[in-house]
Amino acid sequence: MELFIDTANLNEIEEASTWGYIKGVTTNPSLIAKEGLTQEEVINKIVKLIDGPISAEVTCNNDVDLMLEQAHKLYEINKKNIVIKLPINEEGLKICHQLSKENIPTNLTLCFSANQALLAMEAGATYVSPFLGRLDDIGENSFQLIQEIVAIKRNYQYQTKIICASIRNPLHVKNSAVLGADIATVPYKILLKLKQHHLTDSGLVTFEKDALKTAQLNK
Ligand code: G3P
Repeated sequence: MELFIDTANLNEIEEASTWGYIKGVTTNPSLIAKEGLTQEEVINKIVKLIDGPISAEVTCNNDVDLMLEQAHKLYEINKKNIVIKLPINEEGLKICHQLSKENIPTNLTLCFSANQALLAMEAGATYVSPFLGRLDDIGENSFQLIQEIVAIKRNYQYQTKIICASIRNPLHVKNSAVLGADIATVPYKILLKLKQHHLTDSGLVTFEKDALKTAQLNK
């Protein structure tokens, strides 16, 4: 399973780009708003930090012509890596279908049901982003949704990649991988937690002590 970083914070992206296992970036209007820059300014900086899929969300919803115009403008920033993020609604699915005919990659977001994911796949979405945390917040079973979407994808050999989003903890990441999602897009603070285990830390202390003992023998 690939890991993307879910942020518009340039410092976080720059650091994550040095780790060697972050393959892309997802943003959304709320993440962009935290940075105090325009979407275009943020995306123009991100494309210089990560050579991988970078999701930029269309924001003028309900006006298909405006949404299509914004999609093309975003794509022009970097045709190699920009992915157009669209909501799974009537307008978003129409534009997804149009952009798929133009070979412009799309990420259908705010996915909360298997039927929404099915429509995204049928519309030719490159990625579909089920939101785990927001489902858990209302007491629904986010892992069941991932199981359903993975099953639908496998049943019909859809090429759409499943990006598990709204990740709130390492369990979300683990289960996304166990259940067969293609990608998890993870906030910076959660990414830091993935490598942490107290037994690794304590084991390393012991190894270092014993290595020092061995090193003494060489003197
Ligand atoms: O990629 C979507 C993600 O940023 C939403 O996360 O925690 O606002 O549901 P959250």
